Amino acid sequence: MLNKTERKENQERITRLLKSTGRAGIEELVDYLETSDYFEAPASSGQNHGGYAGGLAHHSYLVYEEFQHKVDRYNLNVPEESAIIAGLCHDLCKVDYYKPNTLKDGSFSKSKPYVTQDDFPLGHGEKSVAIAQRYIELTNQEAMLIRWHMGNYDPAWEFYARKIEERFPEVLAIHHADNEVAKYHGV
Ligand SMILES: [Fe+2]
Ligand SMILES: [Fe+2]
Repeated sequence: MLNKTERKENQERITRLLKSTGRAGIEELVDYLETSDYFEAPASSGQNHGGYAGGLAHHSYLVYEEFQHKVDRYNLNVPEESAIIAGLCHDLCKVDYYKPNTLKDGSFSKSKPYVTQDDFPLGHGEKSVAIAQRYIELTNQEAMLIRWHMGNYDPAWEFYARKIEERFPEVLAIHHADNEVAKYHGV
């Protein structure tokens, strides 16, 4: 759970990081995040990770941090602005996607506080890439990091794994960062 002040802090650090990239269109991307539910949405419907208000932004920030840590640790060839963009935008597919799970008596479910409603079922990583590209031009590496951040949880992974691992080995690092944040931070 995050209180209002913590959510505000996450919002400030995320917008500061994104703007620090200086990428053309980044102001428009930040406007989009601020007018959508990006900073208020959960990261899951409550059964997995970050199933609370502000969970998506919290998860995205921690994934960025963990991914950057792996980039430094393994000396991966990922520019800092690309780690910021990939980390913070990898789950844009979850924006305006979770709705409160209202029970028949009008109260909210505690065990499953959110349900999903996908109005644009393009795919998980694919949709995040498509949304980011409306505002900024992604490098191939950023598109790869976002598209394939689910790694072998993505059913198409097996068809592309060899090429991805050969040409963009950093994809494994963001996939592991995503997993670790969900499993060890529960976010
Ligand atoms: Fe994801
Ligand atoms: Fe994620």
